[in-house]
Parts: sequence; structure tokens; C-alpha cells
Amino acid sequence: MTEYSTIYRIVGIVLTSAVIRASSNGCPVMECWFVQEKPGRGGFSAAVTQEKSLMYIRTDPDDSSIRQFRPPADIDLSRVYYVTDPSASFCHASLHPPEGSVTKPQCEINPFQPQPSMVRWATSLTESGQSPIHLQADWFSVAAQGLDGQLVLSALMRAPSGSKEPQVILSVTSRTASVRARLGERVTLDCGFWVDPSSPLSGAGFSVEWRYQFRGEGRLVLAYDGKNDWLADTTETGAAMDFSALHESGNASLVLEEAETRHSGTYICTVYLPNLLAQVALDLEVVEPPSLSIFPSPLPLVVPGQAVTVQCEASGFVPLSLELAWEFVGADGKSRPLGQGSVTGHKQALDGTYSQSSRLELDSAKMGLGRGGEISCVAVHRGGTRKAKVTLNVIGVSAPSIEDSMAMVAVALGLYGLIKVFSWTFSSTGTSHGDTKDKV
Ligand SMILES: *[C@@H]1O[C@H](CO)[C@@H](O)[C@H](O)[C@H]1NC(C)=O
Repeated sequence: MTEYSTIYRIVGIVLTSAVIRASSNGCPVMECWFVQEKPGRGGFSAAVTQEKSLMYIRTDPDDSSIRQFRPPADIDLSRVYYVTDPSASFCHASLHPPEGSVTKPQCEINPFQPQPSMVRWATSLTESGQSPIHLQADWFSVAAQGLDGQLVLSALMRAPSGSKEPQVILSVTSRTASVRARLGERVTLDCGFWVDPSSPLSGAGFSVEWRYQFRGEGRLVLAYDGKNDWLADTTETGAAMDFSALHESGNASLVLEEAETRHSGTYICTVYLPNLLAQVALDLEVVEPPSLSIFPSPLPLVVPGQAVTVQCEASGFVPLSLELAWEFVGADGKSRPLGQGSVTGHKQALDGTYSQSSRLELDSAKMGLGRGGEISCVAVHRGGTRKAKVTLNVIGVSAPSIEDSMAMVAVALGLYGLIKVFSWTFSSTGTSHGDTKDKV
């Protein structure tokens, strides 16, 4: 009986602590760098300060348990925030790695200054020109990146002036921080946003913009004014968004119908609310492995000592980096490297893909290729390894074949004949010699 009650008590304690973990410790805390411009400086040399900061997070505004957390001593109390995040985007598992893991998610907090947006597709949001009382508060923007590119997050938080208890008002997230696609594939660049339904900004309209950036160049891919249901003109083709999903659930994902090489780069999804904006950046890499062809194919028959040049052409690949090499598999079934051959410079096709080739001089005698075997060209690329093969036949070397045996018989017969002739000649000269001797 006593034993039972002990067990019940233990189970009870375990359950209680599990409940506490689930309710308040579901996403307890996030370490973040608080970064801001140094006060009193400004101008051209915008020096910044970076301080350690901590966010204790609850999803339920009525959950008072986060107040019981005490920050570690190395963190300045003024940089400790008690955040309410009803969207629970801060609770994503990739932002909370297991205790002691080496890699850590990244997080940065900056002070944020609400202001009207000047882009055409967002001006309608603030056309009344009024500055709502709601904006008069402390605003922060948080940018975070989960482990393994599982999540990128950007959020705006509002705290009553001077308080350390901000509430998430707008969060923009993507679950595809880095995307890889083959040529011609349909690509979805995930982006979604959430607006606090209790905020006066909810229902005041939004706009969405997708920009593309690559090596300093940029272009507008898609821009949509959700308040007026108006799509800005862009030169982009084959890019689409599901506008009903956008209005219904804040799904701002961009779909590219067919991946092309020109699509590789960074995509920025920006969501505008009146006087606010938050954005996330995603990387798309279009990767296509090469197609290989070897010629001449088939290879001509060669005799020992005769060299033949074989060429391997890799084409249609992207990005540029490629390693070409040659291999030989002989009658013994063993594979042996034959080196790189002489690799040409690359060429770029109109579709942006590359081609490159390698030539190899095959000298069966010098290279010890025996009777021949399989010659392969191997291309190692980010998109995968590709191989092309051709057969090399060296004739006239070998264990005796039927033809060779017959040749040998012929040679033997010939030799026999030769010996006969010699012996006759020899015996007859011998005789005559003797004759002469006899005469002397
Ligand atoms: C958002 O839309 C994209 C493309 O239309 C779709 O693939 C994706 O599943 C949607 N996301 C959610 C969370 O519904």
C-alpha cells in the first residue's frame, strides 16, 4: 500500500512537471543579440553596439509563468524581454536545439521605427496620413534563423513604452531558407505571414513584395497591393502567387513555373502593414548535372602501339564547377584512373548552362591497357556524378585465339620450309666445298 502511494506520487510529480514543460516551457527562451546604432553618433560611420539579450517567450498572454524565470548574471537586465507570441513562430523546433548542441540558431533584435512605406504597392496602406496612437510604443524587429535552414523568421514586436514585455504583431516566416531545384522544375519559395488579430492593424490591409537579388543586381518579381487587390506590372514571367490563399491564410509563397538558370539567387519576401514591414530572404540555387557524350563511339579497333584520341563532352550543367576524369576497366575487372585528360575551357549556352570537354590520348601499349576494356569518362558535379563508357578493343595481343593458332601453324609450316631449303643449300655447298678441297 505504501509502495503504491509512492509510485502514484512519483507519477504525479512526473506528470506535473511534464505539464509545466508543455505549458510554459514549450518554447521557453531564446538568446539573441541586441544590435543598435551607437547613440549620439550616426552620420556616415554608423557604429553599432551589440549586446547579449534574452527573450522569455509565451504564446498565451495570460500565462504568467514566464515572469518566474531569472536570467543568468552575464545578461544585462535591461536586455531581458518577456515576449508574447500568439503565432508561436518563435517556438519552432529549429530555433530550440537540444541542450549542448554545437551549432546554434541565429537571432538578432533591433529597435524599429514605424514609418509609411513609399513603394507604390504599399502607399495605399497609409494614405489617410494619420499616425495611429498604436504606433506610439517601443518597436523591435527580430530576425532569426533556425538550424539547417529549416526556418527563417522576421517579426515585429510592440511593447508599451518603457516596458520589457513586447508582443508580436507581425511575423513573416519561410520554411525554405535555401532551395535547390533542377532545370525545368516547378519551384515553391515558401513565405507566410501572421498578424496579431487583436491588433488594430489587423484588417487594415497588407501588401506583399517579392524581389530578386544576385551579385548586386536586383529586380522586382512580384508586387501586390492586398488592400486594393492590385498587382503591379513587372517584367517577370512564369512567377505566380495564390491570391486567395494569401488573403485567407497569409500564404505569400511564390511559385516559379519552370526553374531556369537565371532564377538562381536570393529572393526577398516583404510583407507591409500600415507603417510596418518585415521581410525574409531565401536562396534558390538551380543545379543541373551534366549530360555526357563520348566520341568517337564506338572506338575504332587499334593495334598495339597505335594511339587513338577519345573525347568526352559534358554539357547542360549549372553551376560551373565540374571535375572530369577518365577511368579504365580491363579484363580483370579492376578499375584504374587514367587522369583528367586535357580539359578545355568552358562555354556557356544561351540558356545559361555550361559545357566543357576533355580529350584523352589512348596508347594501349604505353598505358598498359592490354587487350582493351571499358574506357569511362566520369564527371563530378554538385548535381550528381555522371559516367559515360566506350569499349576499347586492341587486336593482335592476347592469349592465342583460333586465328592466331592458324597463323602459328602457317608460320611453323613456313619455317619448316625455310629450314628445308637452308639444309639443302647447306649440304650442297658442303659437298662442293669438299670437292674443291679434294682438288687442292
Ligand atoms: C502555400 O502555397 C504554396 C503554393 O501555392 C503551397 O505549396 C503551400 O503548401 C502552401 N502552404 C501552406 C502552409 O498551406
